[in-house]
Amino acid sequence: MSGRKRVVSGIRPTGDLHLGNYFGAIKNFVELQDKHECYFFVADLHALTTHPNPDNLAQNVKHTLVVYLASGVDPDKATLYVQSDVPEIPELYVYLNMIAYKGELERCPTFKEKIRQHPDNVNAGLLTYPVLMSADILIHRAHYVPVGKDQLPHLELTRTYARRFNNLYGVSVFPEPEPYHFLGEPIKVPGLDGTPKMSKTGSSEKGVIFLTDPPEVVQRKIMRAVTDSGPQQPNMPISEPIQNLLTLLRLVGGEEEADFFVEQYKKATIRYVDLKKTLAQKTIEFLKPIQERIKEYENNPQLLKQVVEKGIEKARESAQQTMELVRDAIGIRKLY
Ligand code: AMP
Ligand code: TRP
Repeated sequence: MSGRKRVVSGIRPTGDLHLGNYFGAIKNFVELQDKHECYFFVADLHALTTHPNPDNLAQNVKHTLVVYLASGVDPDKATLYVQSDVPEIPELYVYLNMIAYKGELERCPTFKEKIRQHPDNVNAGLLTYPVLMSADILIHRAHYVPVGKDQLPHLELTRTYARRFNNLYGVSVFPEPEPYHFLGEPIKVPGLDGTPKMSKTGSSEKGVIFLTDPPEVVQRKIMRAVTDSGPQQPNMPISEPIQNLLTLLRLVGGEEEADFFVEQYKKATIRYVDLKKTLAQKTIEFLKPIQERIKEYENNPQLLKQVVEKGIEKARESAQQTMELVRDAIGIRKLY
């Protein structure tokens, strides 16, 4: 990535954030804000597909903002805002819907997964979820989008709409945005329950470590993590649940410890209880400063308000510049 680029990403306010959100998305935000023009937001409109309770929604928007700040997103470097505060986004969503085809949206793997999980709530907002996400990204004419691996199909559609818009109107308004991850390519943070993705919806709460989990809860969840019956002889391939624990250990800063346990595994002398104790200790240490800052920001609603007010202004300025180009390209021009 050379030169100063525009970066956009968002997280849905659907509850407590976990290590998957942190290492899949938020950690990148902190890294990128020093070098690039960054826009990070709370995707409250996207959360509406599941009809959240209004009070919960408001609480979760606040929590997501608090976590951004507590994780080190700096409002003096990056623009932080709430999606619904930028009316240019739904406007762009309308235009993009005209070039988004039903078939390609129906084929999107995340849509297929959602209709399997909730066959009773297949609303139009769910089908066009990737179009709204494209509007979020294209509204700032972004070059990079730091997200977890699960979002790649959406990003592919965003690239399609950018290209399609430019071709249809013979302009080059939108760059084709690319995914970004500090480890080289987007990752999937695994769960503690043997599942490949830590997630609130997919797996049970036991498999998820929330950023706000107190030390005793972290300890309990990790000590109960799924393992296997252990290597029966030297040099056996490492099974998925153990690989997952090693991945988590590396992410929370236990690189050396993870190498040690891999060696032990190869020699078939590994003790899973030691691996779990080390993972619990490293995770608790990792979470401690974030949790302290979460408490500080939760007790400072005035600061949150200031951050958002400043963010809305900067986000709308950028959005309005894009919309002038978009409306002009489409032919929506003022007669008066
Ligand atoms: P969501 O909570 O679905 O809005 O996700 C917010 C961000 O966290 C997105 O960039 C996701 O890709 C990312 N994310 C969520 N769970 C994981 C996971 N287990 N591994 C990696 N990234 C994740
Ligand atoms: N769809 C993303 C998720 O579920 C959230 C999101 C909405 C997003 N708009 C975005 C992510 C724009 C990156 C860029 O996690």
